[in-house]
Amino acid sequence: MTTANNLINSSKMLQMITERLDITPKTKAIKHIEMNPELIELILDLYNDDEDFPFEKMQRFSVEEILDYLQSTHQYYLSKKLPEIEQSLLHIFSKYGQSHQLLASLAIFFNIYKNKLVDHILLEEKQLFPYIRRMIIASKVKAVCAESLEIDMEFSIEKFISSHSPIEDELKEVSEIIKQYSDNKTTPLPYKVFLNQVELFELELRKHAIIEDHVLVPMVIELEKQTKHFSN
Ligand SMILES: [Fe+2]
Ligand SMILES: [Fe+2]
Repeated sequence: MTTANNLINSSKMLQMITERLDITPKTKAIKHIEMNPELIELILDLYNDDEDFPFEKMQRFSVEEILDYLQSTHQYYLSKKLPEIEQSLLHIFSKYGQSHQLLASLAIFFNIYKNKLVDHILLEEKQLFPYIRRMIIASKVKAVCAESLEIDMEFSIEKFISSHSPIEDELKEVSEIIKQYSDNKTTPLPYKVFLNQVELFELELRKHAIIEDHVLVPMVIELEKQTKHFSN
């Protein structure tokens, strides 16, 4: 598997991780976040190497901190990363679309993928994250108050786990296809740039999913144990 180090050096990686914290929030619901430097450091370690990563070290941060990070990451993907990649694709298409007919299918393929990814993110933003935020409040207030928080008792982290698809795997297929286009030495630079962007984004999504599955989910399972008894 390609490691992050093959693609970017560590100062660039740190910049990539902190860059998402500067994204201007589109809605008031997402606050501008000041991230704990220790958490940034751990995330940097995770980007360097996710094999044998000590997930328990991340458990000492609050669910809010993890949630804020994931939410700003979603924002970063939607408002920066995806538009950047699309821009590159558009550039390639306008320059080589006539001479390389197969590029049209690549553009369609990427577009289908993009829509799936946006749906994946929006589902988490609209269902999972509000559910967790209400759970956090419920865990802090009295049972009688918690009942008025309108927690969706039909939803559970169990349901989320069973439907959480590895969306990054499909992006790997996209990058495999681009590689087929750009396999020879005469590959124009824009193809290489595009391939690099897609590979980096795949790496991004993989780390993001690791934090969701191995850090956030166990935290929410604990939170549910404390709060779900309100429904009984
Ligand atoms: Fe996500
Ligand atoms: Fe996800």
